[in-house]
Amino acid sequence: MKTTGGSDEAKRRAGESAAALVEPGTTVGLGTGSTAAHAIRRLGERVAEGLDVVGVPTSFDSRQRAREAGIPLRTLDDVDRIDLAIDGADQVADFELVKGGGAAHAREKLVDTAAERFVVVVDPSKRADVLSHPVPVEVLPVAHGLVADAVRDEGGEPSLRRAERKDGPVVTDNGNLVLDCDFGDITAPATLARTLSGLPGVVEHGLFVGTADEIHVGTESGVRVHERE
Ligand code: A5P
Repeated sequence: MKTTGGSDEAKRRAGESAAALVEPGTTVGLGTGSTAAHAIRRLGERVAEGLDVVGVPTSFDSRQRAREAGIPLRTLDDVDRIDLAIDGADQVADFELVKGGGAAHAREKLVDTAAERFVVVVDPSKRADVLSHPVPVEVLPVAHGLVADAVRDEGGEPSLRRAERKDGPVVTDNGNLVLDCDFGDITAPATLARTLSGLPGVVEHGLFVGTADEIHVGTESGVRVHERE
């Protein structure tokens, strides 16, 4: 797993707080990353205690974790609805997010936006007044140069994400590449999101605008819950 800031204790509190929201008989989107992993683990404990739920994973990694936790799984195609999605974020400003630090944002966006209620789980290091984290952009391998040029034209600085313990780039669960695109302060996220979505060769980007319903911020002593009005 990638390394991120924030304490594991704060992540645990956030993840467990979101797992406590899951109702019997519901379908839950299972996010990716070190914070969502705590929600998956706690949900698995609740399943072992008798909770009847179905999970829809957002990545190879969340599928593996959910399997190990004993959560019954379905694909997006197999379910009529997703009642609740629980997922982490790389940065949160108000209710807008940058995601994709684990290169899972394409499937995360499918599952998180399909959910009736999307709960974001973070530690305090993820909160910001204005989004400024580089935006992960998943691209078709053949298009990475063209998309990089287009990102520069839009004022961004793209960087092809390199793999660790493998020569060459990160390859996503979908067989694509990731450009981490630094735009500095993102003062108009909805506009940038539309621009990136419109670039040929872009599969999905990590700006999540207007999708989060609740933010659960785990701290060293508790959890702060922010609900969208
Ligand atoms: C996965 O691609 C990401 O969107 C993660 O949800 C995000 O990077 C947060 O991960 P951590 O909880 O590990 O910081």
